This record gives sequence, structure tokens and C-alpha cells, in this order.
Amino acid sequence: MFDLQNVTKVYPNQVVALSGVTLRIERGEFVFLVGASGAGKSTLVKLLYREELPTRGRLFFNGRNITGLRASQVPYLRRRVGVVFQDCKLLPHKTAQGNVAFALEVTGAGAYLIRRRVPAVLELVGLADKARAYPHELSGGEQQRVALARAIVNNPSVVIADEPTGNLDPQTAWEIVRLLGEINRRGRTVIMATHAKAIVNRMGKRVVALDRGRIFRDDENGVYDDGLL
Ligand SMILES: Nc1ncnc2c1ncn2[C@@H]1O[C@H](COP(=O)(O)OP(=O)(O)OP(=O)(O)O)[C@@H](O)[C@H]1O
Ligand SMILES: [Mg+2]
Repeated sequence: MFDLQNVTKVYPNQVVALSGVTLRIERGEFVFLVGASGAGKSTLVKLLYREELPTRGRLFFNGRNITGLRASQVPYLRRRVGVVFQDCKLLPHKTAQGNVAFALEVTGAGAYLIRRRVPAVLELVGLADKARAYPHELSGGEQQRVALARAIVNNPSVVIADEPTGNLDPQTAWEIVRLLGEINRRGRTVIMATHAKAIVNRMGKRVVALDRGRIFRDDENGVYDDGLL
């Protein structure tokens, strides 16, 4: 699904955020990206949904080189990739269902599809009873579940989450990760950048560890190794 070949990212201020990263992520995998603050996790995430472009190296999504995508082809990628951020980025003047519906509206979805799909994903994330609440009326965990619903409403083949549990207590964080696990069981690839050691260790999934822009560990059924990070 994603194939990074010797990818380097140098920001305009000359910071080398990623250096010679080679990584394959197959369809249907659940992958944790771990590493100390500044290791390059968010940069890698941004490359995957083409928020940033690599400085060197090649990056393929489903066999297409997305580095070379023309602007008109970017929607091809964005429709297939759902993204969740630590700070949710919900629209404050729209309700939970309004936020989720908006993600469909911008793709040109019709009213029938929106009426059918929005309640279904809110139900999936356990927020059917909060559909009409505004973000400021929701707890942090509930807001994060709205963000997750919004990321999956277009039925993407991959969900990428950058520290989606960063602001949550351990129990609520675990509920979000459980939902990501459920989304993965339903066939989506899930990629999650995180500092949450307990969650990584408990899930027993693939762990890709970054250190100063380089991959230094890539383990199936990995753990978040305290000694090395
Ligand atoms: N837009 C930017 N311009 C310049 N430098 C940046 C930019 N974004 C990130 N960096 C730098 O690139 C490096 C990697 O940052 P990145 O945000 O990818 O780390 P991270 O692993 O996500 O860290 P954290 O755990 O704190 O979120 C850091 O040195 C950071 O200061
Ligand atoms: Mg980050």
C-alpha cells in the first residue's frame, strides 16, 4: 500500500527530519510509529497524505508515485486516506453530525448518502446520542471519536492517526485505540504515531521506531522499548 524508498525530508530551515527511510506498509496492517519527540513521526505521517513532499527518495501509494502527482490527482489520494490529529481540528460551529457530514459534502456526496452514512459512523464510534452536540459540549475523548468518525466516513482504505490519544486519560485513550483496532479488523490499514507505551505494548502490533529521522527498529508484535527510546 505504502512504499517509501530511501526517503529524506529536509525542511527549509535545513532541519533533516527524515533521513534515508525505507519502509513498506501492506494493505490491512496495523502499524505504530514510535520515537522520541522530534524523531520524525509527524513528518512521516505528513508525507503519507502528501501534506509535505520528500526532499529525496520515492514514495508510492498503491503503486503510484505520489511525489509526482499533479495537483489534479491529489484528491485520488485524499479520498483513500483518512487522517486524525491530536487536536481533532473539528469545526467549532458545526455539530458532531455536521462535522462528519461536511467531510462527505466536500467530496460531492449526495444528500441520500449523507443521511445514511453519517448516523452509521457515529453509531460505530459510540456517539449516536451526541450527534447534535457542538464540539465545546463534548469531552476530549468524544471530540476525538468525532474526528475518527470524520476520518472514516468516506470509507478510506487507510486511516492515519497522529497522536490521537495525546490529550486523553489512559482509559479514554484506550477506547480510541480499540476503535482503531475495530476499523483495522474491518479491513482498513491503520497507521498510528504515538508516545503511549502502555497501548503499544498491549496491542502487540507492528512497531516502527524512529530515532532522529532514521528507522532503527521495525518489529512485528513489537513493544515500545523504554531502554532504547
Ligand atoms: N514545518 C517544519 N519546519 C521546520 N522544521 C520542522 C517542521 N516540522 C518539524 N520540523 C522539525 O523536524 C523534526 C521532526 O519533527 P516531527 O514533528 O516530525 O517530530 P515528531 O516525532 O512528530 O515529534 P513529537 O513526538 O514531538 O510530535 C524536528 O526537529 C522538528 O523541529
Ligand atoms: Mg509529532
